[in-house]
Amino acid sequence: MGHEHQYPSRRDILAGGTAMAALTVAPLWSAHAKDAYRLTALPGNARIKPEPAGETMIWSYDGQVPGPLIRARQGEKLRIEFQNKLEEPTTIHWHGLRIPNAMDGVPELTQPPVNPGESFVYEFEPPDAGTFWYHPHVRSDVQLARGLYGALIVDEANPPKVDRDLLWVLDDWRLRGDGSIIDDFAHRHDISHEGRMGNTITINGRPSGLVSVRPGERLRLRLINTANARVFGLRFKGGVSTIVALDGQPVTPHPPERARVVLGPGMRADLIIDVPTGADGSISVVDDYYGDKAYTLTKLVPKGKPLRAAPPPLEALPENPLPEPDIARAEVQEVLIEGGSKGYLEEAIYKGEKFRPRTLFRKHRKIWTLNGVAAHSMTMEPMFTLKRGRSYLWKIKNDTAWDHPMHLHGHHFRILKRNGKPVAHKPWVDTVLLHLDETAEVAFVADNPGDWLFHCHVLEHHVGGMGAVIRVG
Ligand code: C2O
Ligand code: CU
Repeated sequence: MGHEHQYPSRRDILAGGTAMAALTVAPLWSAHAKDAYRLTALPGNARIKPEPAGETMIWSYDGQVPGPLIRARQGEKLRIEFQNKLEEPTTIHWHGLRIPNAMDGVPELTQPPVNPGESFVYEFEPPDAGTFWYHPHVRSDVQLARGLYGALIVDEANPPKVDRDLLWVLDDWRLRGDGSIIDDFAHRHDISHEGRMGNTITINGRPSGLVSVRPGERLRLRLINTANARVFGLRFKGGVSTIVALDGQPVTPHPPERARVVLGPGMRADLIIDVPTGADGSISVVDDYYGDKAYTLTKLVPKGKPLRAAPPPLEALPENPLPEPDIARAEVQEVLIEGGSKGYLEEAIYKGEKFRPRTLFRKHRKIWTLNGVAAHSMTMEPMFTLKRGRSYLWKIKNDTAWDHPMHLHGHHFRILKRNGKPVAHKPWVDTVLLHLDETAEVAFVADNPGDWLFHCHVLEHHVGGMGAVIRVG
C-alpha cells in the first residue's frame, strides 16, 4: 500500500546536538484516494521515544502507528478487508463517519467481535468529506493506548487550493524509560479522575521535532486527537491560523477562540495556516491546555524564497449533506453527567440495581453515570429511543469536576449553546467537549437507524460507566 508515502519517515539532526525527528508529513495530494484497502491488526515495534530508549512494542494496523492512512472519495464505495492477528478480539470503528449501523464496529451492538485469526469486511460509502479516523471498540482503552488507530480522509471533489496538506495525528503514551508501554490500563485513579494521561507526546507516532515550511506557504493542517485522555490546546505563535472544519465538518472560517485550538480526545480540526513571509517567520506550536505544564509541541521553520507576498483569499470548504435540525419543533431531552472523584453522585443504577457510588466503584469499578445509570456493556437498554427523521435538542450538563468529550456514533450534531450562550457558527461535530460544570445544547436529526453509542471519549471514563445506547427506530 506504499505506507512510506503516507506518514513521515525522514529524520533530521538539528545543530546543537539534539536529535529531533523532522516531521516531514508527506503531501497528501500525491497519495491517491482508493476504494479498497486491507488492514491487519498485529503486534509491531515503533520508534516512539527518542534514543537511547528502545523501540516500543505496540499493537498496530499493518505494523505501523498510526495505521495506514485511508483516503476515500466522498459518496463512493469504500471496502476495507480487516484481519485480526492479535491475541484478543477487536473491531474497527470509523469515528465520525455517518455510515450504516452494521459497519459501525461496536462489538455485540453492531457486529460480533472479530476474534484472533478472523476477518471482517467493512463496506460503506462515506457521505461526508473531511478528516476522520479509525480505531477499535473492544477494550478501546487498552487497544488505542497500545497503538491501534489511523487516519481516514475523505476528499472533497474540489478541495480548496493549498500548497500542502499536512496531517498530524496527536497522541500521548505512558512509557517507561526504556520505551515500553506501562500496562496499568484501567487504573482506578485514571478511571475516577482525568483518564490515562501519558508522559510522551507524539505527532504521527514519532517523537516531536521541527517542520520545515516555505515563507508564504499556505498549509491545510489536519489535527486528530487520538489520545485516551489528554486534551490539546494549541496556539500557533507567530502565525495566523483559521479553523475551516471541526470533526470533519466544514465550518465558517474563523480564528480559534482565544487564539487556541482545543481538541479533546476523538476530536479533529482542519486549519489553514499562512506562513509569514518575513525574516523570522517561524511558528511555535505551544500546547498550554494544562496551564503550568505548557510545552512546545513543534515549530514550523520557514526556509527558502517566499512563495508569495501576501496570503491569497481564503475559501470555505464545500458543505457536506447534513440534515438541518428543525430547532423550533425539536424534542428536548436532557443528559446529566455525574460521578467521578470530587463529584456529588448520591446513587447510581447498575444492571438495574441501586448502588452507593463507593460500593459500586469498589465492586465493579463504575463511577460515572449518564442520567443516573452506569454502563455495564455495549448492549444496554437504550437511554433514549428516537424517531427516525425527527429533530432532537439535547441539553447536556456536566455535573462533575472533570472534562468530558461526549461522542455520538452515526450522527453529527450542531452545538447551539454553551452555558446558555449562543455558540458562534454553530459547528457540526460528533464530539462535544464539556468542561467542568458546563452545559451544552446540541441539535440533530436522528436520520440513521440503529443502536448507537453515546459515550465519553476519555476511554477510562467509558470503562468507568460513562456510556449509553441511543436507539434510532
Ligand atoms: Cu472514537 Cu465510540 O468512538
Ligand atoms: Cu469523561
